[in-house]
Amino acid sequence: MTRRLFHLERDGVALLIAQMGDALPHVLHWGGAVSAGIDLDALASALSRQSPPGTLDAAWQLSLAPQEGDGWSGRPGMQLRRGGIVHHPRWVVTGTEEGEDRLRVDARDEASGLLLTISIGVEAGGVVWVEHALVHQGEQDAAPVDVDWLEATLPVPSTTDSLLTFDGRWAREKRPVVTAMPAGATVRQSRRGRPGHDNPVAAIASIGEPRWGAGELWGVHLAWSSDLTVRLDRVTDAVTLIGAGELLRPGEIRLVPGEEYRAPRAAFVHSTDGLDGFAARVHTWLRARPQHPSSPRPLVLNTWEAVYFDHDPARLTALAERAAEVGIERFVLDDGWFLGRRDDSTSLGDWVVDRTVWPEGLTPLADRVHALGMQFGLWFEPEMVSLDSDVARAHPEWLLHDPGHLEHPASLSWRQQYVLNLADPGAYAHVLGQIDALVNELGIDFIKWDHNRDLVESVHAGRPGGHAQMIAVYALLRELKTRHPALEIESCSSGGARTDLGILAFTDRVWASDSNDPVERQDIQRWTGLLLPPELVGAHVGPTTSHSSGRTTALSYRMATSLMGSAGFEWDILSCDEEETAAIGRFAKLYKELRPVVHTGRVVHPELRDNAWRATGFVGQDAAVVVVATVASLQDARAERLRIPGLDRDRRYRVRVRREIGDARHGWIAPEWFGAGEIELPGAVLSEVGLQLPTLWPLQAFVLHLEAI
Ligand code: DGJ
Repeated sequence: MTRRLFHLERDGVALLIAQMGDALPHVLHWGGAVSAGIDLDALASALSRQSPPGTLDAAWQLSLAPQEGDGWSGRPGMQLRRGGIVHHPRWVVTGTEEGEDRLRVDARDEASGLLLTISIGVEAGGVVWVEHALVHQGEQDAAPVDVDWLEATLPVPSTTDSLLTFDGRWAREKRPVVTAMPAGATVRQSRRGRPGHDNPVAAIASIGEPRWGAGELWGVHLAWSSDLTVRLDRVTDAVTLIGAGELLRPGEIRLVPGEEYRAPRAAFVHSTDGLDGFAARVHTWLRARPQHPSSPRPLVLNTWEAVYFDHDPARLTALAERAAEVGIERFVLDDGWFLGRRDDSTSLGDWVVDRTVWPEGLTPLADRVHALGMQFGLWFEPEMVSLDSDVARAHPEWLLHDPGHLEHPASLSWRQQYVLNLADPGAYAHVLGQIDALVNELGIDFIKWDHNRDLVESVHAGRPGGHAQMIAVYALLRELKTRHPALEIESCSSGGARTDLGILAFTDRVWASDSNDPVERQDIQRWTGLLLPPELVGAHVGPTTSHSSGRTTALSYRMATSLMGSAGFEWDILSCDEEETAAIGRFAKLYKELRPVVHTGRVVHPELRDNAWRATGFVGQDAAVVVVATVASLQDARAERLRIPGLDRDRRYRVRVRREIGDARHGWIAPEWFGAGEIELPGAVLSEVGLQLPTLWPLQAFVLHLEAI
């Protein structure tokens, strides 16, 4: 029997994959780099599986597509059916292709005529991408094959003892959930036609509870923006697996000869530096993409919480003028500008300017915004339709709903809206045509692409329609980007219900949450940042009293929190007093000065014991920014020291408290350096000894700016 070892390695991450004869390969190691020169025989012997008593006799290793026949009692890597009956493929490898950092394996199952292709690549940052595809290569009369699921899996050490996933709700996305390693199969799923506010985001297995700056962990995320599964299997007689795949409904993918199902790509991330190391790998990968935004991330003013549906051209023009005065660079007109849209009960799908509100159309506003030197952005919700719309009246057949169910519209309605079936060529052409026309006519620079409801029992061509819908949405985004290469698109879904790496292939920013409350935002942005670097995460200063929580916070606190992302305002700044307006102007300058560091640096989270602290650092080559905030009262009268990781130990840094946003309020006497607002120290001292923090009051924040000298 031939034995081969594939060794893929990049940026400190290695994958060792063995292949015996023509069996599907199995992974011997996914983790830290091992360098070259590995003897397969010795490695195979070192890692050969012990056959415990009471299990299958053969000492099989788990393949890249584990199934029952491998002696695997966890969730299979895929589930197939023929004629309604489960089908167990017998894969025979027909070819492998090894490139630098990549491996492709083709395997055939004679009985069904299926070809399975598994592509694995270690890409920038050491992120391992795994992609599975199935093609039905049977004769024309061969039986169709139902794909119930096709999920990518990789083994993690059985020494992992904690599992991190996420849940959340509207205005409180991405709440981390850490549990002791559960026994058996753990499956977290999204069944909403979008990842959802309670998106599991990832499955991360760690040795010890996950920490920001230290510890070894292995995680998986699916680059897919609709229904999904993330999974972990801990069985006592096999390796532990993590994995992810698209959640398909029965009958959704039925392959007939000649057809292919390509599963979404899954990103597997290993870190020896805790969650910060995990994030750094994904950020490196994202930043290495050719389409990653390279221009400075503009300071935004979005009109939503400023005016909601109350569109008055004169007032909005005045708002744009004030925006330009204070230093805003992108003005975004949110919901409410199109045919009959006076509230959220009508008009989705009619992407034509409402002349009763905008008698001269949007051209005067767009032109004024451009003349003021700002970009012009416009809100759309392209996947949705209101029953009270011209398009729904003309084409009721374009809805992504079971017509029988639509007879009882109340049971399907969500924010009084419905879903448009973009897999229908007519519906697709309608939406593309209307958006494209407006982009051309108004010179739109930026689209806020919203998606405000779950998909419920979607039906397309008599089948479950979630998969086809997502593919059509990606195609629509791709087409708009192709026609308008400079156009930027933001992924919004009632806030942060769609912020995955799938949608990020076609978008340039996410709207992290509908909560602009900085207390909530400290955590929502922190955890959104596990995958997305700050330049991709929309973070706006909202009104003094938050519209989503009723909490009142200081402007300095809101601005410090906004500075941690792609910053902006979502507030009627015409109502600001002189002092507030001046502070916004100072903040705009500060944001522009610091964004090159925040938007390219490595994100670090200095460890502090008191859970009332939130400290986030952005560490570049010659400078760093650290935002220090409190989300509650501190426990101790004498606060902890802040030790900043990631600095160059051998260089001296000038550390300044940037007070442009206003002062952070604190009790008692502040540490000398904080009072002075400036200090010079070597990197080694800042990272090992630390800075004595002031005892901040609750809901206060300050910005530290470090420059190497
Ligand atoms: C939900 C979004 O998350 C908000 O920011 C806003 O755009 C509204 N939709 C508009 O309807």
